[in-house]
Amino acid sequence: LDDPHADPFAIAAEAAADIARLTGVERHDIALTLGSGWGKAADLIGETTAVVTATDVTGFSKPALAGHVGTLRSVRTPRGRNVLVIGARTHFYEGHGVRRVVHSVRTAAATGARTMVLTNGAGGIRPSWKPGQPVLISDHINLTAASPLEGATFIDLTDLYSTRLRDLARSIDPTLDEGVYCQFRGPQYETPAEVQMAKTIGGHIVGMSTALEAIAARQAGMEILGFSLITNMAAGIQTTPLSHQEVIDAGREAEPVISSLLARVVGAL
Ligand code: 6GU
Repeated sequence: LDDPHADPFAIAAEAAADIARLTGVERHDIALTLGSGWGKAADLIGETTAVVTATDVTGFSKPALAGHVGTLRSVRTPRGRNVLVIGARTHFYEGHGVRRVVHSVRTAAATGARTMVLTNGAGGIRPSWKPGQPVLISDHINLTAASPLEGATFIDLTDLYSTRLRDLARSIDPTLDEGVYCQFRGPQYETPAEVQMAKTIGGHIVGMSTALEAIAARQAGMEILGFSLITNMAAGIQTTPLSHQEVIDAGREAEPVISSLLARVVGAL
């Protein structure tokens, strides 16, 4: 994926063949990327039929955090759909380029998945939101100045986060709120002024993932559902300094509730 002459879609097809061989599952129907706080969902979605170490699959990078082993899981829902659960996300701030960031999405599409569920932990701008609250992503603003599209690839992003799937999620939890997700490059959190900018331009959620992946998923023709766990209020909205530990702790606390919500939504897809 670092070779500019290599075809990222051919590499994704190779990765999909690796997954079929290593899991014994020929075709996946749904792909689900688990962000911080959402990790327990995999156990609740159905029966895990195979777990693969991500680095055994073509194009998947070594995890950024030491001691963290990224895995890909094949989970079968009670209704018999195969879900590829991606527990190995490469963030843009790691600096390995957009091709690596979206490789898991392109691989998921190559395994057959027509639905991409993207989840993350993020900062909230709306003062009514509370840490630990899950929200639907209604749209995004890509503030990374990057794109997974190369060359003259002019794709439409209308209804990128599927209205149909958001309605389906709300049929499971009618209290779900929604908002516009702003992807910043990171890894530093935003300044209060940057958060005010995000608010002024129509953003409600700030994070460091998801938008680039959603663009790649749309390019692949997938239907997209996005969830953010509000782990904290963004800088300046909350007056105490942000810490990575706070984000982790909020995720851990919310995990049982939001994972069960996610599992019910995926089960209904
Ligand atoms: Cl406040 N900002 C960003 N970019 N990512 C986050 C966050 C804030 N809180 C959790 N993840």
